[in-house]
Amino acid sequence: PSNNSQTVGPLGLERRDCRAKGGSAGFKVAILGAAGGIGQPLAMLMKMNPLVSVLHLYDVVNTPGVTADISHMDTGAVVRGFLGQQQLEEALIGMDLVIIPAGVPRKPGMTRDDLFNINAGIVKTLCEGIAKCCPKAIVNLISNPVNSTVPIAAEVFKKAGTFDPKRLLGITMLDVVRANTFVAEVLGLEPREVDVPVVGGHAGVTILPLLSQVKPPCSFTPKEIDYLTDRIQNGGTEVVEAKAGAGSATLSMAYAAVKFADACLRGLRGDAGIVECAYVASHVTELPFFASKVRLGRSGVEEIHPLGLLNEYERVGLEKAKKELAVSIQKGVSFVNK
Ligand code: NAD
Ligand code: LMR
Repeated sequence: PSNNSQTVGPLGLERRDCRAKGGSAGFKVAILGAAGGIGQPLAMLMKMNPLVSVLHLYDVVNTPGVTADISHMDTGAVVRGFLGQQQLEEALIGMDLVIIPAGVPRKPGMTRDDLFNINAGIVKTLCEGIAKCCPKAIVNLISNPVNSTVPIAAEVFKKAGTFDPKRLLGITMLDVVRANTFVAEVLGLEPREVDVPVVGGHAGVTILPLLSQVKPPCSFTPKEIDYLTDRIQNGGTEVVEAKAGAGSATLSMAYAAVKFADACLRGLRGDAGIVECAYVASHVTELPFFASKVRLGRSGVEEIHPLGLLNEYERVGLEKAKKELAVSIQKGVSFVNK
């Protein structure tokens, strides 16, 4: 968190630096992959967040332009751009939160796992940088396949001796955002009033909406349950197909990522009662990683909520999800230890 201080203005005059006010509420945030389809709107929305005092934008291409553009927004966060591997460490030093949307997206016909070969290496390199330069930062990992990239990040941090399970979170918020939207449509409610827990992971059958636990309490017909489960599990594919080769969800993802990052920052600030779903190191099932509701606080994930009571439909879904997750987790772990 930064405080006001003396600074030299663009004309070389000494000025009191009143930017990034907010005292202890000013956090330093880095986005890795900031020039991409998710990265750009994410950078814009983070620049609008009053909890952010410093925003570092890192990518292997185009960050000078994105940084110049975003830096003209009249909000408090100071924006700095970093281009290419040689500037990665500089981008990471001192960060409180690192958000990672770096990597290739799907095209129609691909699964998220088809991205593994390219994105695994990208995530590994970026996490090595984090371990070296900001080992205490909270990491929000967006790059797919999340079910494997989070175990990759954990293994990198373990090797470096910096792994803190409370600080590594795979982003499944888009599944929750979609679930809230689709359930609200079916119920005829305002989406902001709906809260659907989505557990498991972030790919196909591993995305497990708990429709029996929707708030406000409600009931669905078997047909509605089939429709909603299928739509939530395949929401990503729906966007990939609609974009027809031009990538996957970027705008709704940036929205979801900012919602989640804001929750992490409010937790770091010490706000109470912040609970969101995320894919984390977990004992909720026998698997080493699992997405469920977590309480966020000053040290990151402070509590992992149990799954609660599941109905028969959800219990069957859970078994399917665990089977696929186990393979994806092992694939990530083996990649780092091969
Ligand atoms: P994109 O291709 O538009 O942008 C990716 C950016 O990453 C590019 O700017 C690229 O230059 C950058 N990049 C590549 N290698 C890098 C490296 N080594 N270091 C830093 N930056 C690097 O893709 P996108 O649409 O923004 O999607 C990014 C990733 O997010 C994909 O893997 C996608 O599958 C994933 N995604 C996840 C979710 C989720 O819910 N978790 C949702 C949507 C997309
Ligand atoms: C999503 O859910 O939209 C992302 O994981 C991107 C994808 O490949 O579907």
